[in-house]
Amino acid sequence: MLGYYSKLSTEVYGVDKPIGTSFGDVEFYLERLKGIAGKILEPATGTGRMLVPLLENGLDVDGFDSSEEMLEMCRKNCKVRGLKPELFEADMETFSLDREYEAIIIPAGTFLLLHEREASLRALKNFHAHLKPGGKLIVDLYLPTDDEIGHSTLRSWELDDGAVITLETTLKEIDFINQFSIAHNHYEHWKCGKLLGTELEPFAMRWYGVEEFRTILEDHGFGDIVISADYEHGKYPENRQQSITFEAVARK
Ligand SMILES: C[S@@+](CC[C@H](N)C(=O)[O-])C[C@H]1O[C@@H](n2cnc3c(N)ncnc32)[C@H](O)[C@@H]1O
Repeated sequence: MLGYYSKLSTEVYGVDKPIGTSFGDVEFYLERLKGIAGKILEPATGTGRMLVPLLENGLDVDGFDSSEEMLEMCRKNCKVRGLKPELFEADMETFSLDREYEAIIIPAGTFLLLHEREASLRALKNFHAHLKPGGKLIVDLYLPTDDEIGHSTLRSWELDDGAVITLETTLKEIDFINQFSIAHNHYEHWKCGKLLGTELEPFAMRWYGVEEFRTILEDHGFGDIVISADYEHGKYPENRQQSITFEAVARK
């Protein structure tokens, strides 16, 4: 698996997208999950950016993540708010629980981190197996927006202790046949002119065609599919800059 979300990557996620950050998705998911009294699962819950507001709005959400560092930050974010969700380390592809959920949600394009087709289909089967009959799957997809190999962006964040983390992201490869791109995220942690640490995170993202993904959902036991662009329910996507949310019901 690429995209490890280890120490510096987690720290950056925490400062760049603290709890309270929404891309329009938090409000959308709250609306789409309204009225669900039973359990909801957020695979790859990260720092709790989505999980925390859902819990604060009375939803009963469990979360898991493959990154120990992200989970640790999530636990802290929940603890300071007096929230006690069930959180555990697991992988989207292989997790196995003895319960079924009313809904499973994967916001923020996270499903695309499973960049190999077979792995992502295994995860989809796994989500289906963990949903109650009639349970809802809500998953966000993105399309690639950068086509220029070698193109880099540089960002930096100042931390509370005066240290700075820089992140240079460089697009390394686009595999048009297998539908994924690979970028390198190079993190540096600086304090008082000294380099405290570096991290290199090869970061792969898959993409799916809109109608391709609808067909995949149908082939994997899902129906009543609603596609929404930029968190406007039922609005069909028009360009690749938009987020694309699929909502589907598990048929069993
Ligand atoms: C972009 S963050 C999203 C976090 C959160 N869902 C949100 O909306 O802010 C992606 C998260 O997916 C986790 N992740 C990546 N691959 C995973 C996998 N195969 N299984 C479980 N978690 C995974 C990463 O560790 C990271 O915490």
